Amino acid sequence: MEYRHWGVICVVLVLAAVTSVGVGVPLALKARRTAGLTERLEMANVLLQQVPLIDGHNDFPWNLRNFVHNEVDAFNFSADLRQVAPWNLSRWSHTDLPRLRQGRVGAQFWAAYVPCKSQWMDAVPLSLEQIDVVRRLVQQYPQYLTFATSAQDIVDAHKSGRIASLLGVEGGHSLGNSLAVLRTFYRSGVRYLTLTHTCDTPWATSASGEASKQGISRGLNDFGKAVILEMNRLGMIVDLSHTSLRTTQDALVVSRAPVIFSHSSAQALCNTSRNVPDHILEQVALKGGMVMVNFYSEFITCNTSAKLTDVIAHLNHIRSVAGIDHVGLGAGYDGINWTPEGLEDVSRYPYLFAELVKDDSWSEEDLKKLAGQNFLRVFRTVEQVSRQMAVEKVRPRQDRVDPLKLIYTSAARCSWELSEALNKQQSSQPNSERGELTR
Ligand SMILES: *[C@@H]1O[C@H](CO)[C@@H](O)[C@H](O)[C@H]1NC(C)=O
Ligand SMILES: *[C@@H]1O[C@H](CO)[C@@H](O)[C@H](O)[C@H]1NC(C)=O
Ligand SMILES: *[C@@H]1O[C@H](CO)[C@@H](O)[C@H](O)[C@H]1NC(C)=O
Ligand SMILES: *[C@@H]1O[C@H](CO)[C@@H](O)[C@H](O)[C@H]1NC(C)=O
Repeated sequence: MEYRHWGVICVVLVLAAVTSVGVGVPLALKARRTAGLTERLEMANVLLQQVPLIDGHNDFPWNLRNFVHNEVDAFNFSADLRQVAPWNLSRWSHTDLPRLRQGRVGAQFWAAYVPCKSQWMDAVPLSLEQIDVVRRLVQQYPQYLTFATSAQDIVDAHKSGRIASLLGVEGGHSLGNSLAVLRTFYRSGVRYLTLTHTCDTPWATSASGEASKQGISRGLNDFGKAVILEMNRLGMIVDLSHTSLRTTQDALVVSRAPVIFSHSSAQALCNTSRNVPDHILEQVALKGGMVMVNFYSEFITCNTSAKLTDVIAHLNHIRSVAGIDHVGLGAGYDGINWTPEGLEDVSRYPYLFAELVKDDSWSEEDLKKLAGQNFLRVFRTVEQVSRQMAVEKVRPRQDRVDPLKLIYTSAARCSWELSEALNKQQSSQPNSERGELTR
């Protein structure tokens, strides 16, 4: 083709680009504050078409176990589960495919969570069952979901119009004190491990574990540090939601890669140990990591009633302390029983963005970072650290927890669990126990 023809095509392309900017980007230019809800929702939808909305934590897999015994054939994920028992009877159900699509969710971390009471017992096989059920669910709905294990997978899934489905294991007790299990989880597609759930492990303390309750400041021991470094080597993200302050601090020192809080909010606004204090927000930012804000009302206002704007206060606080590059979303749907007014389920994310659009201090770039670009950056950095460690020829670690100590602790724990279980039998309320176990 002759040169002048290219010139013509260039002019056409430039015109096309200008026109499409005119359609897509007035977001940044318009008087956003005065735009009506419909218009702002449209802006949010355009934004979430341009960048995948990535949510750090959803407990749907636990409800799959709880409600249908992991039988993915026994229910219809593309139906409106608000109309289907037992989902419609539970305060803990906020997720189905139609609502994920309404919510413009681009990528979802599904939690492979098993209760702390399985520690020392069947935590490992139960965790494998939760990993398996997520993979079967994704396989069952290929037109909506696609399994993802990398930052690029998320971008590709978003382009193809499907929801990238990622796996996080919630709680170090799921490892059964074995780095071989950690590596096997990675090979099964797991891309983050929350170091603890609500119980201490022999190598890391939890924000709500026995050590914290007794005021004992203990974080990671040598094996715990080995877990972190092995995660760095594999390219698995270190998640610090649920860990004790000391474990958090130790992990921030030891990890070579950025760390995340997959579902935690700001302690300055609601002082619970599940939220992140300001000095840790600063450390997470220095490390290049991020905090993905949990929508649980109890973590937003410290009571059961909260509004969408209360969640925005947490986003604003984390942005002001850690910086815009270090904030994201990890609502915790299906693992919480109180949700803010306006953020009742997974369909509501666009409403959050439609509200933020009103605020000129949130630029279009900022909104994209919040939605997914921050997480993509963190994930890519974690992948890069893994490649770097491969270049350094760092070997798979062979650390073990002292077997004698394990036998002793496990025996002590078993007898404690047994007495707890017997106590509970007399005074248990089915829903309150679940409440303590998840989130
Ligand atoms: C599941 O529900 C959707 C939406 O109601 C419906 O279109 C589809 O046929 C259902 N699938 C099955 C297998 O029942
Ligand atoms: C829940 O869904 C079932 C159908 O599966 C229906 O019969 C029942 O009335 C619903 N209950 C409520 C409270 O919506
Ligand atoms: C949160 O409460 C603890 C005591 O429970 C206190 O030490 C800490 O300073 C409080 N943090 C904030 C941000 O209020
Ligand atoms: C919950 O917290 C919010 C914000 O702090 C407050 O406005 C509201 O009155 C509280 N509600 C209850 C029931 O305590």
